[in-house]
Amino acid sequence: MTGHDVPPPRREVRFLLGDEAVAVAPTDPTRTLLDFLREDRRLVGTKEGCAEGDCGACTVAVGRARGVVVAYEAMDSCILPLAALDGLHVLTIEHVGGADGAMHPVQAAMVARHGSQCGFCTPGIVMSLYAQWRGGGATDEAAVEDALAGNLCRCTGYAPIVAAAMDAAAAPKAADPRGARVAEVAARLAALDDGAPLEIAAGGRTLHAPVDLDGLAALCIANPDAVLIAGATDVGLRLTKALQRPAVAILLGRVRGLDAIEDLGGEIRLGAGVTIARAREVLGALDPQIDEWLRRFGGAQVRNAGTVGGNVANGSPIGDLPPLLIALGATLRLRRGDEVRAMPLEDFFVAYGKQDRRPGEFVLDVIARKPGPHTLFHASKVTKRFDEDISTLAGAFRLDLGADGRVEEARLAFGGMAGTPKRASAAERALVGRPFDGDAAEAAVRALDFAPLDDHRASARYRALVAANLLRRFAREVAHGPARVAGRLAEDAHA
Ligand SMILES: Cc1cc2nc3c(=O)[nH]c(=O)nc-3n(C[C@H](O)[C@H](O)[C@H](O)COP(=O)(O)OP(=O)(O)OC[C@H]3O[C@@H](n4cnc5c(N)ncnc54)[C@H](O)[C@@H]3O)c2cc1C
Ligand code: FES
Ligand code: FES
Repeated sequence: MTGHDVPPPRREVRFLLGDEAVAVAPTDPTRTLLDFLREDRRLVGTKEGCAEGDCGACTVAVGRARGVVVAYEAMDSCILPLAALDGLHVLTIEHVGGADGAMHPVQAAMVARHGSQCGFCTPGIVMSLYAQWRGGGATDEAAVEDALAGNLCRCTGYAPIVAAAMDAAAAPKAADPRGARVAEVAARLAALDDGAPLEIAAGGRTLHAPVDLDGLAALCIANPDAVLIAGATDVGLRLTKALQRPAVAILLGRVRGLDAIEDLGGEIRLGAGVTIARAREVLGALDPQIDEWLRRFGGAQVRNAGTVGGNVANGSPIGDLPPLLIALGATLRLRRGDEVRAMPLEDFFVAYGKQDRRPGEFVLDVIARKPGPHTLFHASKVTKRFDEDISTLAGAFRLDLGADGRVEEARLAFGGMAGTPKRASAAERALVGRPFDGDAAEAAVRALDFAPLDDHRASARYRALVAANLLRRFAREVAHGPARVAGRLAEDAHA
């Protein structure tokens, strides 16, 4: 469908809630799913804990039709705009059991294993485990822990919950009260897809949800001050915590093609709308340390909603993708109207809170260079808390070697070492033209000329020390083989 045969905008959001077809024109264009569930529908099983995507008490399962099946993902309803659910299936804790009151295997196992004490976290935990169960179930305890990294429980402790998930994984698929109706749900979702953009106007404010890139480009030009909303894992907090109410918001989640992933041979193109979960699949396949880093990007709910474009456009000095992508030699492409301009990703980050994005422009995609057979690579995310924590400091290093084994090109990218994600240019120069060994790493360490952040996460001195240690660790890995024990890098970097 081209920009010319897009249907006129629809003024209501349509989705499936359990078995019910919902059509709603929100009175607040950026109303969250959680407020809709609890206040409008009195579905109060879904809890509000933090209202900032951190605790998982508000977790729901969101399903997308994939042909005749429906793929469910856990998401935090507290920061998810209702309009983002258009065309999707929403399941809350009220919907997972049978009409006859039969419990889902995850619920039954939680009861049998005493997986709930005060119960406040329990609906969210059940929904995270439910989404995992629908996706094939837990394969081992590590997979359960991963699924639960975005769910906080203050009183039960996780051991009985993990045991319940493992029990539930062994239950037959036929035990799912909804299992037999997947094709019916997929058909109902397909019928909702009318290809129409959304235009939700209320209280003098408007939310647009275009369906194609031309429509998005036109809206961005017409509304240069509009707030773009992708996965809302950053913007959502401005709505719930800062109580911001943008006059015009543009939702990106329905734009066809913005979530495309393309293998270009030596490069990978990631559309701005690609979620972190999907980016992890392709970038993680390039190197196990990238996979481990992205496994620790938020919790599952955040990775299922948050996007590549949001992480880059946000411009945080401690965002996870920028250092990784800068080390991979990524090119950023921005679009304004019909014009597309490209730049090395590092050039986008001008200063703290300032990016090279012009009015009416949006992030289109990033194109990353795959490591080659003569590439040495290292990536470490260092955090205070192991799971679901933003980086204190992060380093991603790429060295491309010539036929003589000497460094031809060095890319040392850091997060948390300055007001922006940044390359260590002097340290890179210190490495070029020599083999990468312990001495070379020390030369690079001496050339590190950052003024690291000094804040509540860590002192500048700590960051400088850890940055140096990451380079030393990289040299040790190269000398002694890939010492890539998942989950150990952060602790080792403290040594
Ligand atoms: C609990 C929690 C844990 C988190 N953990 C991490 C973490 O470990 N690592 C990390 O890096 N981040 C983390 N984040 C931050 C956030 O998840 C990421 O920055 C995420 O990638 C943002 O993507 P989004 O699609 O949700 O962006 P949104 O919130 O939708 O948007 C973010 C910003 O980018 C703009 N924007 C979005 N898309 C575009 C586009 N295509 N063009 C131009 N502008 C655009 C928006 O206007 C907004 O200013 C966490 C957040 C939460 C709530
Ligand atoms: S209420 Fe805590 S993540 Fe939503
Ligand atoms: S059971 Fe009380 S917070 Fe988890």
